[in-house]
Amino acid sequence: MKWPNHGGQPKRILELNGIKQEDRYFDFSANINPLGTPLVLKEQLIKTFTEFEKYPDPDYQEATKLIALHEGLQQEQVLLTNGGAEAIFLIAQMFTGKKALIIQPTFSEYERACKVYHLELSYLTLQPEKDFSFPLEKVLNKMEEVDVVFLCRPNNPTGTVVDLHDIKALLEKGTKCNTMIVVDEAFIHFLPSHIEDLSFLIEQYSNLILLRSLTKIYAIPSLRLGYIIAKPAMIDLLKRNQIPWSVNGVVTSLLPSLLTQDSFINETKTWLNRQLNDIKSELTKLDFYYSPTQVNFYLLKDQNQQDTSEQLFTFLVENNIIPRHTHNFRGLDGKFIRLAVRSEKENTYLLQTLRLWREKKC
Ligand SMILES: Cc1ncc(COP(=O)(O)O)c(C=O)c1O
Repeated sequence: MKWPNHGGQPKRILELNGIKQEDRYFDFSANINPLGTPLVLKEQLIKTFTEFEKYPDPDYQEATKLIALHEGLQQEQVLLTNGGAEAIFLIAQMFTGKKALIIQPTFSEYERACKVYHLELSYLTLQPEKDFSFPLEKVLNKMEEVDVVFLCRPNNPTGTVVDLHDIKALLEKGTKCNTMIVVDEAFIHFLPSHIEDLSFLIEQYSNLILLRSLTKIYAIPSLRLGYIIAKPAMIDLLKRNQIPWSVNGVVTSLLPSLLTQDSFINETKTWLNRQLNDIKSELTKLDFYYSPTQVNFYLLKDQNQQDTSEQLFTFLVENNIIPRHTHNFRGLDGKFIRLAVRSEKENTYLLQTLRLWREKKC
């Protein structure tokens, strides 16, 4: 079967499972904010028509200034990108021909970008038997052999978060052995408030590069917006290879509103926490394994089906639920499915369907 590389392609999954185009399906395969786009953005979008006729500022002065202010950084520490995806490719390009370590299973685009720019790749794998915990010692031992480490925090697809203590240990070691640490914080806004993002470490560590996406939290994957945070010298290097006007002027004109959505983000966190608690408690009752996620998606497996999640995947699709397959996540190879947290109604329907599956199998 030719699996799509990413979630968010429900019609393709239905087609692959031989199901005629259904209009009523529930897409659990894409990890965007289930609360949707903030209303204020929808209202403002209509006013952005005037931006269609203009080229955006190629240096995105206003936008980077706003982001820097928002993050408590200098403007020179920020590079605006066309989503997190462009950030990943720009960073990989900067290490062309060098050696990278990727902690798997994780977002597949790090590997793809590294291959495009001929990086020599090595991997360490989070173990399901160890609840996908971060193998700090193994990573530290490997760091001398590589120029750059790619990490995702919170990690897609497990939803797990590397401890701040471990991050600092990597940065310290990297400072000594000249290894850069790239941390993808695309899902940072979904974390409970007591878990810190890493931007406060930028001043202290020249070997840290952070990347952000605003497409997840504001549910704007088609508008696309992201940014890189790093030391000014690094930002300069990255900028040299960026395609001109790569970020559209419509989304940059929305930035002032996007960056004042603290109450929307807090509402998302509170709502998500409640949903996650309900989902986790029901999954435990139904005897499913789920990864110890802190965000809006998780890995799921029927512990009674050791080797594959193929049957469960098909069962859900037949019930109009579109999960994310895990065939292109190294170390998972289709043994788990990934599910997004969706609206309360959809989550309830998912849990009812999983109950049916359990009853059918017992
Ligand atoms: C971990 C991670 N980083 C980056 C991206 C890309 O984000 P964007 O849509 O902003 O390009 C994704 C998209 O799924 C992702 O899962």
